Amino acid sequence: MSAIDQARVPAPLPRLAVPQVPERPLSLLQFLRVLRDNSLATYRSEAYTADVLERRLLWKRTFLLNEPGAIKHILLDNAANYHKTEITRRLLEPGLGRGLLTSEDETWRRHRRIMAPAFDHRSIVGYSPVMTEVALRLVSDWDALPVGAEVDVAAAMMHATLHIISRTMFSSDSDEIVDIVERGMGRYQAEVRPVLADLLELPAWLSRLSGLHRSRDIFAEFDRAIDRLLAAREQTAEALPNDLLARLIAARDEQTGGGMTAQEVRDQVVTIFMAGHETTAVALTWTWYLLSQHPTVEARLQAELQAVLGGQPPKHGDLAKLTYTRMVIEEAMRLYPPAHTLSRAAMGADDVLGQRIPKGAIILIVPWLLHRNPKLWENPERFDPERFAPERVARRHRFAYIPFGAGPRICIGAAFAMAEAMLILATLAQRYRLRLLPGFPVDPQGLITLRPRHGMRMTLERRS
Ligand code: HEM
Repeated sequence: MSAIDQARVPAPLPRLAVPQVPERPLSLLQFLRVLRDNSLATYRSEAYTADVLERRLLWKRTFLLNEPGAIKHILLDNAANYHKTEITRRLLEPGLGRGLLTSEDETWRRHRRIMAPAFDHRSIVGYSPVMTEVALRLVSDWDALPVGAEVDVAAAMMHATLHIISRTMFSSDSDEIVDIVERGMGRYQAEVRPVLADLLELPAWLSRLSGLHRSRDIFAEFDRAIDRLLAAREQTAEALPNDLLARLIAARDEQTGGGMTAQEVRDQVVTIFMAGHETTAVALTWTWYLLSQHPTVEARLQAELQAVLGGQPPKHGDLAKLTYTRMVIEEAMRLYPPAHTLSRAAMGADDVLGQRIPKGAIILIVPWLLHRNPKLWENPERFDPERFAPERVARRHRFAYIPFGAGPRICIGAAFAMAEAMLILATLAQRYRLRLLPGFPVDPQGLITLRPRHGMRMTLERRS
């Protein structure tokens, strides 16, 4: 082949990291073992294509839905019939408190109404400078490293998003809190895994051996640190900063005029702190991984950053012009959705896609499967940000892509997260190209979030 012919041959597409798909049905014991290690490795190939799939775990019936219309029915049209599951509560409440993620009905509605203004457009414009500042600080930390240095990008992204949530929430760069949470989150995901008793929703005391009870110890230190920060806020005589915490304390329900109690504020603070950093960090980590494997996409991203920002740090006002940057992040969250699984329990019987859903059944909606369903996505395993060009989005079912969930329980922090991810990516990518270490084992692991099991070790290439 001549050199010209060779140049015309398209580069082979990289094989992206995925968990192993079981070839045979798993026995109960195998299922439990795999589930505790990586819930995404329990799905056989049929789960990627079937509209609805029933799984039985002894007497517990679970329906896996992988069809946008059916998902719309659960999350939006008949959302009142579906609550968060007992297992979600058991997994999340010890860490996240009794906040917005796990509350239901009137309590949830009141809290959501009260908290919504703290996440509206104006508030996010206000938080944005902090996001860019934290990213710039990471740039200067990296600048201080020797040329070609190796970093764990997963840890670096986690550190950055933790600082951002800490500063937007408390106006303080509390390194103490950041350290405590970094230690706690790793232990939480590593040690706290469900056992059969949790999956069957047996009384919580029966699942004591599962380690879920240990999560209280893991978070005790964090709870104390939060309490100290809240107490300090109560005692301060200075003018209060206009941060997320101040907004939560001052927030009033537009219908009743009431606010939240100190305990309610504390639980929401813990929820937002926890829900609001790791997800964005893993979204960014997977974005760096995908960019490192796709030089053409990376070059196009560079061209956009150069044209829009010209070497300057990004501001919130630039985000509307960074259309390709947004598409890259959206496509990364299609392939590696940080919140890979949503679950609901049916409060009453229902019919979905002609399937009878009995009262008490569990519904699983798994963005990991939905976003890779070949009936909805052409070449689903390919990284192609063009899928998020507005005209192509308009042709797709709105419920084919749900990284932030959908319906009334959609992520309250979605706009916060998108602004944060875009500002961090735009700041760092202008200065650095990140290369995956050759042979580094990238292994997506579905725990509470979709993490890279071994982190993401990459080398830093400074751009001229
Ligand atoms: C890329 C980043 C993020 C992703 C992928 C993500 C994903 C999600 C998803 C899928 C849900 C719905 C869960 C369900 O329906 O079962 C959710 C809810 C929630 N998220 Fe996020 N999230 C992200 C960032 C954030 C941020 C930055 C915050 C706060 C600062 C946040 C706070 C929350 C809260 C409080 C809820 C519960 C909302 C409710 O039930 O009313 N999230 N998130």
